[in-house]
Amino acid sequence: MAEAQLGAPPASPGFDPPPSDDLLLPVEELPASESSPDLVYRRVRDELMLDGNARLNLATFVTTWMEPQARQLMTDTAEKNLADRAEYPQITAMEARCVRMLARLWHAPDPERVRGCSTTGSSEAAMLGGLALKRRWQERRRAQGRDTGRPNLVMGANVQVCWKKFANYFEVEPRYVPMAPGRYHLSPEALTAYCDDNTIGVVAVLGSTFDGSYEPVADLCMVLDGYQAATGTDIPVHVDGASGALVAPFLDPGLMWDFQLERVASINTSGHKYGHVFPGLGWALWRDAEALPEDLVFEVDYLGGRSASFTLNFSRPGAHVVAQYYSFLRYGFEGMRSLAAQCRTTACALAARIRSIPPYELITDGSELPAFAFRLAPGTPGPTVFDVSRAMRARGWHLPAYTFPVPCQDVSVLRLVVRTGFTAELAGMFITDLTEVTRQLHTGRAASPLPEPLAAT
Ligand SMILES: Cc1ncc(COP(=O)(O)O)c(C=O)c1O
Repeated sequence: MAEAQLGAPPASPGFDPPPSDDLLLPVEELPASESSPDLVYRRVRDELMLDGNARLNLATFVTTWMEPQARQLMTDTAEKNLADRAEYPQITAMEARCVRMLARLWHAPDPERVRGCSTTGSSEAAMLGGLALKRRWQERRRAQGRDTGRPNLVMGANVQVCWKKFANYFEVEPRYVPMAPGRYHLSPEALTAYCDDNTIGVVAVLGSTFDGSYEPVADLCMVLDGYQAATGTDIPVHVDGASGALVAPFLDPGLMWDFQLERVASINTSGHKYGHVFPGLGWALWRDAEALPEDLVFEVDYLGGRSASFTLNFSRPGAHVVAQYYSFLRYGFEGMRSLAAQCRTTACALAARIRSIPPYELITDGSELPAFAFRLAPGTPGPTVFDVSRAMRARGWHLPAYTFPVPCQDVSVLRLVVRTGFTAELAGMFITDLTEVTRQLHTGRAASPLPEPLAAT
């Protein structure tokens, strides 16, 4: 919509400040009466200016740039409720097509047997994946005449908070395999010590939130094969591919992590990360109907027509599914590969550049997810990564600093995520600022001369 139509302030000079009453619109309680749409639009939009600039946010994996045509489609479909399947059969068809595209991309042996759905994000998809694992385990135990009281889920201490929520909300004991110095994600050697016949599944993360590294899904599966051979206990794997499941298929075709591995029962991803859709969209897929217990699927007919529902939410925006369908059709395999490759190239170039700025050292180098973590070399006196994060924030960059979980709590890092829209020019400006901030923090002096901008990536 044109700004002028919406009563945006005309270019100065000549801007009339709103009457003082308008400025006093209550915001902590429902206003007593109506206000003009133009006025409220301006007020809300002005307030939003205080939020950060999404393009300078290096903290998030979530899409902050979409093409105008995709934005337009989202606007065109903003009122469509995904739950209204009888009213919007075409969006339902698009959702089903996206599921089949993902099933093929993730090498399902029989894509027609795959069950799947869109979700609000990977968190909801993870809840559904975990729930299906729990229900399958309970069914197996009941069939054996055994108790179903103490299910546990095994995962690395690096899992995203959604898995901690799952364990808490759905009353499953979380078993976190701790990190060790130099090993910051789940690895095969430590795994089986945490498994027993109450284990409903193992979560393997393709693209650790902490440092962007891939967990070795195939090796984890192999160890579980050995465990089954030794104990008779068959433990399925859920792959949390929130970011990596839409990166690895394009950039790491030789990597075994998906439904090619028989032990992988289900996979989630976030359409709103490397699927190039604004937040919130996720996907959950099960290799076949056996992996998704029938009693988790509800038949609904309230909105006319019967449809199967197996999400935690009911009403949800249809626009995100439409946008995902657009991005899959628009980019195709080669386009998705090219976007992911640009991100990885930029991430690797940035990591290499940061490695050369003392006193930083890399934890990861951007060669798996286009994201990496780096820290100040151990023993560096003076400012911490938290000071660096704050100083970068003052320049507009959102570069998060955090500490790894126990027993690696002495490792504090900065993490940088590269998404589409983070151009070589921005990368160059970032390096310039990081170099200067670091020099200032460590010398207490302004930097001069500034380094060369980063070469094109
Ligand atoms: C590995 C992993 N799993 C799950 C999530 C949660 O995803 P969402 O924000 O789509 O709910 C994230 C978010 O960054 C993640 O990195």
